[in-house]
Amino acid sequence: MTTPTATPFWIAGRQATGEDTFDVTHPWDGAVVGTVSVPTDAQVEEAIEAADSVAAEFAATPAHVRSAALDHVAKRLAERTEEIARLITAENGKPIKWARGEVGRAVSVFRWAAEEARRFNSGEAQRLDTDQGGVGRLALTRRFPRGTVLGIAPFNFPLNLVAHKVAPAIAVGAPIIVKPAPATPLSALLLGELLAETELPAGSWSVLPVANDRMPALVQDERLPVISFTGSDTVGFQIQQSVPHKHVTLELGGNAAAVVLGDYSSDADLEWAATRIATFANYQAGQSCISVQRVIADASVYDRLVEKVVAKVEAQVTGDPADDATDVGPLVSEDAARRVESWVADATAKGAKLVTGGVRDGASYAPTVLADLPAEAILATAEVFGPVLSLHRVDGTDEAFAAVNDSKFGLQAGVFTHDVQTAFRAHRELEVGGVIIGDAPSYRADQMPYGGVKASGTGREGVAYAMADYTYERVLVLTGLDL
Ligand code: SIN
Repeated sequence: MTTPTATPFWIAGRQATGEDTFDVTHPWDGAVVGTVSVPTDAQVEEAIEAADSVAAEFAATPAHVRSAALDHVAKRLAERTEEIARLITAENGKPIKWARGEVGRAVSVFRWAAEEARRFNSGEAQRLDTDQGGVGRLALTRRFPRGTVLGIAPFNFPLNLVAHKVAPAIAVGAPIIVKPAPATPLSALLLGELLAETELPAGSWSVLPVANDRMPALVQDERLPVISFTGSDTVGFQIQQSVPHKHVTLELGGNAAAVVLGDYSSDADLEWAATRIATFANYQAGQSCISVQRVIADASVYDRLVEKVVAKVEAQVTGDPADDATDVGPLVSEDAARRVESWVADATAKGAKLVTGGVRDGASYAPTVLADLPAEAILATAEVFGPVLSLHRVDGTDEAFAAVNDSKFGLQAGVFTHDVQTAFRAHRELEVGGVIIGDAPSYRADQMPYGGVKASGTGREGVAYAMADYTYERVLVLTGLDL
């Protein structure tokens, strides 16, 4: 039976415990930071049934009720920022300064959702008397939830990427069942405490920390017609292929490029570009789908840029993630750090030059820079999800943009240029979901559309975009009107 200290999960808005538990450990020192109760199959069924039963009622909930609940969560997250940030650091190993930033972003996601819930679905009227048969008729298009959302969240933003699934679902009145990542369920379970303080109908939300091997049954369940998955491309596409009739949103990986073009050449320019590249190749130990993995620099600035990038990578403060000064903490597990180590070894064995880093200590991996990465190296094509950067010298914009697009992924790209025409060209030509001019590809404002093309996924998050994704248009045609 569950020990009395195990963190309960949430079924249909109320706390419950199951028969089994699992431990959550701190990636930094392996300490157990929580023990989590696991729902039984019967409890999972209860959550799904409750969501299904409440779906119609929840969809009809007045906007002010949903908005007030979302506002409440935003306020409570803000009030409890430090406690929640420390929890994120404990379960994920993310440096505390980045964890605080994550809580701030989750506040913004819930606040945006509260605002969007008020604006959402006023409807769009269309005259139909444009043809004889439509005289006296009017179409009114409004959006309706597709049904209960199954939100499958990753470990790298254990609060904010849960927020990106939960807040839009509440905003449109769609029930949601959240499945947090096994390594990092504590922040999602704490979010449950805040949702439980609201007037949202029972059944409209559940947080179920079930193991990955139990997920195929949920994915197949017809009462969960929408799946919002963030994680690896392998698992994401398996899910999509296993339920082709469902609405599946996939936020998958990337190997994001930062392009530095020839016009970005003053000392101040290169200082800024190098600072942003070094920071965002290593933030969260590179465990972000939009962390900088590739630097693609014009030959005219390459040497000066690389000197600065390497110095700034070496200046990253590594260590205990609970320390305010730490820039780079451990990866999520020692296995993850060992995988990164083996990929760097693969690259150097195939001819890459190790410029700096390349050292593992437990779950920590030193910020690493590689040059001359051969095309056959795993790192040349795969998403490293670790603090490893590769340097690429190109001649001119054509070559730079071709290099960005020479990837199976397409999530975001950063382009350092001052030229507005080049900015628009980048927007036209780069095969990605987002182009950031004058900054690293890692910039994300939570209200923007976020998602990729190619192996980076399909569909978009970003509050209003996820709301559109969770709903569909239904037209009402009024006839016999005197218009
Ligand atoms: C991700 O890793 O895909 C999320 C990045 C972010 O929200 O900043």
